[in-house]
Amino acid sequence: MEKSLRSLLDWYERAGVDVPDLPPARSVRRVRPVKAEAPPPPAPKPTAFTAADPAPVAAACKTIAELKAALDAFDAGPLSDGARQAVLARGNPDADLMVIGEAPGRDEDREGLPFVGRSGQLLDKMLGAIGLASGGGDEDDVYVGNVCFWRPPNNRKPDPAELELCRPFVHRHIELARPKVILLAGGTAMQVMTGVSGIMKNRGQWQSVNVGTGDIPALPIYHPAFLLRQPALKAEAWQDLLTLRERLAEG
Ligand code: URA
Repeated sequence: MEKSLRSLLDWYERAGVDVPDLPPARSVRRVRPVKAEAPPPPAPKPTAFTAADPAPVAAACKTIAELKAALDAFDAGPLSDGARQAVLARGNPDADLMVIGEAPGRDEDREGLPFVGRSGQLLDKMLGAIGLASGGGDEDDVYVGNVCFWRPPNNRKPDPAELELCRPFVHRHIELARPKVILLAGGTAMQVMTGVSGIMKNRGQWQSVNVGTGDIPALPIYHPAFLLRQPALKAEAWQDLLTLRERLAEG
């Protein structure tokens, strides 16, 4: 701009026009780029919770009552903080059959017993259909527990770390109950207890659960909560119950 004005004035001057001096060019003030505000320092991470080692605690339990007391006193961090109570078992601990499910839900958390909500009612119906009493007393043909002892927040699935924390207690639970046969209700229980994943293709196939007292035959079935959402799968669940009945009849 400055340059073109200068050459225009030169041209007038050469043409004889009296041209006034141009004021000295004003230096253009450079506007310093505004420095972006430094990002705030990252918020300190909440200190990760480290639970006490559950293995010696579980191993020290000599009875199911002691196991329950140990769970009641165990600090499982956010998992136990978010639950009303530890949920261990219902039914007859001397039964040949032990059912192992996933984790307590809202009803179980409130009552302190596993499988007392809608999926528990279906479980009882399923077991009743093959002649097994499972209403919740000492006369039952079944003992019922889970692989996770506290209700996870918002009824979500227990995460792998939570399941690992519970594992020594689950193993001790089985060792103390000494069932002859285990029914694994759902993919989570199957995965935790056998390492096998994929309930759709492994249900109804005998697996083995290894605890300190030896190997126990275990049959994975669809979780009753899944059957409530997928009633068309009840026909397959019925086949699995017949497989279970056959095995129990063998003694
Ligand atoms: N689902 C489970 O797996 N366990 C319960 O105790 C209740 C619902």
